[in-house]
Amino acid sequence: MNIIQLQVTSFRNLVDLQLNLKKGVTLFYGMNGQGKTNLVESIYVLSKTHSFRSYHHKEFIHYDAKEACVRAKVHKKSGTHQYQILLTNQGKICFINKNKVAKISQYLGSIQTISFIPEDVRIFKESPRIRRWLLDSELASLFPVYMKQLIIFQKVLEQRNALLKKMSEKQKNLLSIIDEQLLNVSYELYHKRSWLIQQLNELLVTLYQKITKQKDQISIVYKTYLDEKDKEKYIDLAKSMLNENLNKDIEKTFTQIGVHKDDFEIYLNDKAVSLYASQGQQRLISLSLKLAMVELNTRINKDEPILILDDAFSELDKDKKQALLNYILSKEQVFVTCTHYSEVIQEAIDQPIEIIKMRQGNVVERGVICNGRKQSESL
Ligand SMILES: Nc1ncnc2c1ncn2[C@@H]1O[C@H](COP(=O)(O)OP(=O)(O)OP(=O)(O)O)[C@@H](O)[C@H]1O
Ligand SMILES: [Mg+2]
Repeated sequence: MNIIQLQVTSFRNLVDLQLNLKKGVTLFYGMNGQGKTNLVESIYVLSKTHSFRSYHHKEFIHYDAKEACVRAKVHKKSGTHQYQILLTNQGKICFINKNKVAKISQYLGSIQTISFIPEDVRIFKESPRIRRWLLDSELASLFPVYMKQLIIFQKVLEQRNALLKKMSEKQKNLLSIIDEQLLNVSYELYHKRSWLIQQLNELLVTLYQKITKQKDQISIVYKTYLDEKDKEKYIDLAKSMLNENLNKDIEKTFTQIGVHKDDFEIYLNDKAVSLYASQGQQRLISLSLKLAMVELNTRINKDEPILILDDAFSELDKDKKQALLNYILSKEQVFVTCTHYSEVIQEAIDQPIEIIKMRQGNVVERGVICNGRKQSESL
């Protein structure tokens, strides 16, 4: 899929921006603090209804405005549609073809984007919650039912924890009903997470080798409390594990084991990336993981997601920049931010690359670079 037109109003420092966009690679360039990340963030928010760098949607609204709006015309395999998100101090409202959607869940997934931002490298050092969220958000974009299952799991887990606080002999029946529900939905989450990790494993090693031009081996290892593919066996084993842990759970008033503790670890040549890999290697692996998600989304959704690379080229060496550029040139639509386009385009390339210069939230210059020549376009 690809965005044909974008309109951004009062989103951070983007007061009123209208852009016609093309397929292929578009580079947003300019000095620090001019609105490059804000622009790609607005596209991401339109797609996901949340940001990759902020939890509070009020931060998106321009200091002097009451509401922010992002609107885009998107060309997809199923046709061309218009999507819009309106952000106010009270909340967010989404529209598809000018019709307000009743539930955000009906809107999510309409525009598929995968982003890489410099902060993504932190996934190796962050808490398991962040890594779980990476798996969960990817699964939600692949299978809409996944989000519903995750919400059910969280509700049932809360019920179980609440029951643990007032546990007595009489409540044992109720606990076994809750456990049955919990383990049924746990299996669904486990099964899909396990599948995802297996898929990403194959893609990650190929993409990492393509960009680094090295034969390093990479593997993702799923860390879960119980690895058993057969559903009946899984539930039986999990039940006995919950029973064994019951006294500890009652003491702590919290369920100690379960898929809510899931995590994964990435290994580079059998060494944990979080402990041994260099900063540059961590960056390349987290970037390759996002590229693996692009490939997987394309395979499952039969339509390519839009790729956003915020400041992804700045710390890469020359060869890796070239390899990354070659890779993204094969994608349907990619938005890249950088301080200068020469940071990304280092040698003559025979495919046109759109360049858009940003200053103080406005587009001040745009053009195309092809075969080492730059042609300006009228604004
Ligand atoms: N709600 C807001 N209203 C107005 N301006 C805002 C708002 N939030 C952030 N800004 C401004 O946006 C600017 C930062 O923009 P952005 O992060 O897009 O920069 P950038 O061009 O990506 O720079 P860099 O190259 O440093 O990454 C800052 O000057 C900041 O003050
Ligand atoms: Mg930026």
